[in-house]
Amino acid sequence: MNRDWKRAMTLGFVLLIMILAANPANAQLERNSLAQTPPMGWNSWNKFACNVSEDLIKSVADAIVTNGMKDAGYQYVVIDDCWQVSRDENGFIVADAQRFPSGIKALADYVHSKGLKFGLYSDAGAKTCAGRPGSQGHEYQDALQYARWGVDYLKYDWCSTGTRNAEEAYSTMNKALLATGRPIVFSMCEWGTAKPWLWANGIGNLWRTTGDISDVWSSNKKWPDGSCCQLGFVNILDLQADLYSYAGPGHWNDPDMMEVGNGGMTIPEYRAHFSFWALLAAPLISGNDVRSMTPEIKEILTNPDVIAVNQDKLGREGRRIAKNGDLEVWAKPLSDGSRAVILFNRGSSESEISVNWVQIGYPEHLAAKVRDLWAHKDVGSFTGNYSAKVSSHSVVMVEIAP
Ligand code: GLA
Repeated sequence: MNRDWKRAMTLGFVLLIMILAANPANAQLERNSLAQTPPMGWNSWNKFACNVSEDLIKSVADAIVTNGMKDAGYQYVVIDDCWQVSRDENGFIVADAQRFPSGIKALADYVHSKGLKFGLYSDAGAKTCAGRPGSQGHEYQDALQYARWGVDYLKYDWCSTGTRNAEEAYSTMNKALLATGRPIVFSMCEWGTAKPWLWANGIGNLWRTTGDISDVWSSNKKWPDGSCCQLGFVNILDLQADLYSYAGPGHWNDPDMMEVGNGGMTIPEYRAHFSFWALLAAPLISGNDVRSMTPEIKEILTNPDVIAVNQDKLGREGRRIAKNGDLEVWAKPLSDGSRAVILFNRGSSESEISVNWVQIGYPEHLAAKVRDLWAHKDVGSFTGNYSAKVSSHSVVMVEIAP
């Protein structure tokens, strides 16, 4: 009798554990369960800097729905710096009442009503980069407020952090966000200073790897204080070349938000910029005025073939597999066994560039189908290699399928 009772108790206990474990309400939110593919969206900074308001954000959300970007996969509408002005008597963060008269909750509701997600910006220091109140010492309070407002994405900057340890600072905000129980994608903006790719998997969903991008092809201009240097598209690209092994589902390298459409580069250069952000499994965060794009810019930002490469569920970051002066080949393995390949010409005149099968891990005798992702057409079946003429400052981007 006593033994039966014990057995019944044990069985009951095991059943209870199984029920608790299976109940999703008890499931702990984990950082890596968010952003299984690179986040796609829009951020105010590159085009509008501090000139943000609820009217701007609402009109951008409207545009993303009507211009095809939402259907192409863009989801997060993120207000960068300058939405916040002070803290109230209880320490809660206060939004600029002139620019956001309806409040942040109403704005988040509006963005959600469009079937999009809503993001905000803060900073791990006492002040943001534009001198607004940062989150240092208010991490849990801010995370709670974001969750109450319905925030889905937080970009978290690194200005005025003094001697603060980056891993500690970002871990604190990560824990604060997770403690709210709301799935909030965590975008770390530490500029690569403390090599976050080495420690931030499980802390952030994406981490900036470099200083800020500028809307130029290439730059070596020094900053006014003499420090080096403004970063153009190719400068940022070169800084990514060795980081491919650190990215994967839920944890991405972030080479910064895109400049596509902001006017400083040519259409082929923007096509190259977008192709590379896709191949690098980078977050596709547009940074232009999406309310008034030319058809060429819209066509770049919404190219379904290129976006599919970025959003491929295998989540591997592409890498450089060959370099010969100004001519390069980059490749990204995809979940169906095919490869996305970029033939890249940095030079000033048209050149022929080849990728051979051995470089992308295929046997030489394999006949593989090649699809041009900008021409949107199958170009045929090739054995051993594929070559194309590539114009100056341009890419040819193909998918090669066995
Ligand atoms: C830093 C970041 C930028 C932007 C600004 C805002 O420079 O790297 O992306 O958020 O701050 O002040």
